[in-house]
Amino acid sequence: MAKISASVYTSHVPAIGAALDLGKTHEPYWQPLFKGYDFSKQWLKDNKPDVIFLVYNDHATAFSLEMIPTFAIGTAASFTPADEGWGPRPVPQVIGHPELASHIAQSVIQQDFDLTIVNKMDVDHGLTVPLSLMCGQPQAWPCPVIPFAVNVVQYPVPSGRRCFELGKAIRKAVESFDKDLNVQIWGTGGMSHQLQGARAGLINKDFDNAFLDRLIANPDDLANMPHIDYVREAGSEGIELVMWLIARGAMADVAGGKPPKVAHRFYHVPASNTAVGHLILEN
Ligand code: DHB
Ligand code: FE
Repeated sequence: MAKISASVYTSHVPAIGAALDLGKTHEPYWQPLFKGYDFSKQWLKDNKPDVIFLVYNDHATAFSLEMIPTFAIGTAASFTPADEGWGPRPVPQVIGHPELASHIAQSVIQQDFDLTIVNKMDVDHGLTVPLSLMCGQPQAWPCPVIPFAVNVVQYPVPSGRRCFELGKAIRKAVESFDKDLNVQIWGTGGMSHQLQGARAGLINKDFDNAFLDRLIANPDDLANMPHIDYVREAGSEGIELVMWLIARGAMADVAGGKPPKVAHRFYHVPASNTAVGHLILEN
């Protein structure tokens, strides 16, 4: 049977992708940020999954105000990095896993979550920057990736509770797949940031660190936090953090197993307008 072995959480700031692509990682501004991922790159090599289920948000790239799926699962054989205005990032094509993705769609929809099935989709920095942070600049990504896009751009967006419950359903779906696959689930986006309006530039270190503490130790309670608290405390784009609850809901302890091992924890300000947070939890 397939199993979820670990979850990874990371911000997806587009400027991080540009810093990598333009060879700026050793500049004083970026160096401390990339240093926080040295452990993670080695960890991913040592714990290479067969498939990554990557929860992220599309930023009006594949979708737009014309069509806004709350939860969209990528079932295609491959996904092309999108042109976000400066040309597509020079990163590898993302290879999908149509068989596992279709199985997860089947199982999760039958567990009463409405997923949109997407057979053709370009992927933006929400997906490619986490891959770059964890893998560096390889010729090919280390394994197939199932993109799972969550609407956190246009209200109404899903609640933390719904995201956490969805994570539980994804875990059941993976564990009912009849092949021995080592699956990692990644939750991406966040941490505190606001890109617009009077509070543009907002960062809240106390909130972010408390969020990391609660995500590790008490995610069920964290799942009750309402949208207004994310927006007030973490800024309008801080709402991206609800996606981390999908990955956390898929961990073994939530289904009665042992608490996860914290393999790595990192927090850094600033990266562009954003506080960068990163966790690796092992089952
Ligand atoms: C920034 C952060 C984001 O999450 C995003 O999607 C775009 C820009 C930023 O900090 O600049
Ligand atoms: Fe974003």
